[in-house]
Amino acid sequence: MSKIILTGDRPTGRLHIGHYVGSLQRRVELQNSGEFDQIFIMIADAQALTDNADNPEKVRQNIIEVALDYLACGIDPARSTIFIQSMIPELTELSFYYMNLVTVSRLQRNPTVKSEIQARNFEASIPVGFFTYPISQAADITAFKATTVPVGEDQAPMLEQAKEIVHKFNSVYGETLVEPKILLPENEACLRLPGVDGNAKMSKSLGNCIYLSEEPEDIRRKVMSMYTDPNHIRVEDPGSLEGNTVFTYLDAFCRPEHFEKYLPEYTSLDELKAHYQRGGLGDVKVKKFLNKILQETLEPIRNRRKELQKDIFAVYDILKKGSEKAEQVAAQTLLDVKDAMKINYFSDEALIAQQQERFNNKES
Ligand code: TRP
Repeated sequence: MSKIILTGDRPTGRLHIGHYVGSLQRRVELQNSGEFDQIFIMIADAQALTDNADNPEKVRQNIIEVALDYLACGIDPARSTIFIQSMIPELTELSFYYMNLVTVSRLQRNPTVKSEIQARNFEASIPVGFFTYPISQAADITAFKATTVPVGEDQAPMLEQAKEIVHKFNSVYGETLVEPKILLPENEACLRLPGVDGNAKMSKSLGNCIYLSEEPEDIRRKVMSMYTDPNHIRVEDPGSLEGNTVFTYLDAFCRPEHFEKYLPEYTSLDELKAHYQRGGLGDVKVKKFLNKILQETLEPIRNRRKELQKDIFAVYDILKKGSEKAEQVAAQTLLDVKDAMKINYFSDEALIAQQQERFNNKES
């Protein structure tokens, strides 16, 4: 069986380093591994509209931002198909059929939907489209017969829901859809990178992000103001690693060679942590180290983005070609689905002949 990746992001803002360690970095590695037969990366504008219906301009503006971030991180359009969700009408049609296989109570129990409803104060008036977006996400995944979906941890309930739809569909209509597997980051710190303020979630609305396109001075400022251990007041005080954002970021970004380069008096992160916990290591020193690592990581991405920004026409062309290619694949799956559901009236000659027969028999 072919190995196929499908994943994507809502275009509601520029992508940040949480996206990077949570999923983008992995996608690029998987792409470059050559292990996959096909890779689809989707800009989920239709999903973004499910909770931004009154702000289509925001979604429209951010499509290019996300595309630039993808390309800047190393997604290569020659090896990965980047496309825009709304340009593939087959996805909507698939969603409509899948809706019959999912109950309202099952959607209400979806933990991601639950917490997003709370976060958006939707309790009293949930838009139907928003409520059903896990079904549309199942359509995204299955339309491409994806076997592997590399995403952040928050997407796990979406994958569960998609798998249930696949099972239900296949058991009712016969083996048609492929069961997807989630691929989570291996590194604990990458599962959910906190915001610079220590909040568990890095998000645009909380204003606690470091963006991939962030300028060096802003990266430095954000790192130097990062949340650490509030009880670690003097350098001599023992410090705690628990909920200490600077160390969580080091867990996500630091590699052994960074010590040699930027902090040669330590040989490993464990050693640095032990010193911090013992006391005698100041926050500023650790933050400066993190700043150097982040600068090194983000500089090539920012520079590539600036290059790409010089030819926006070319970037839209990548999206257009990608969307055309993606639509062909989704259209084939839709045909398979409709065949399985027997909604293929005009292409089923046996059916028409049978019906004729039925009416002839009635006559006689
Ligand atoms: N829900 C994802 C997000 O919020 C975006 C998305 C839409 C997606 N469809 C998908 C991710 C299919 C993986 C697979 O970022």
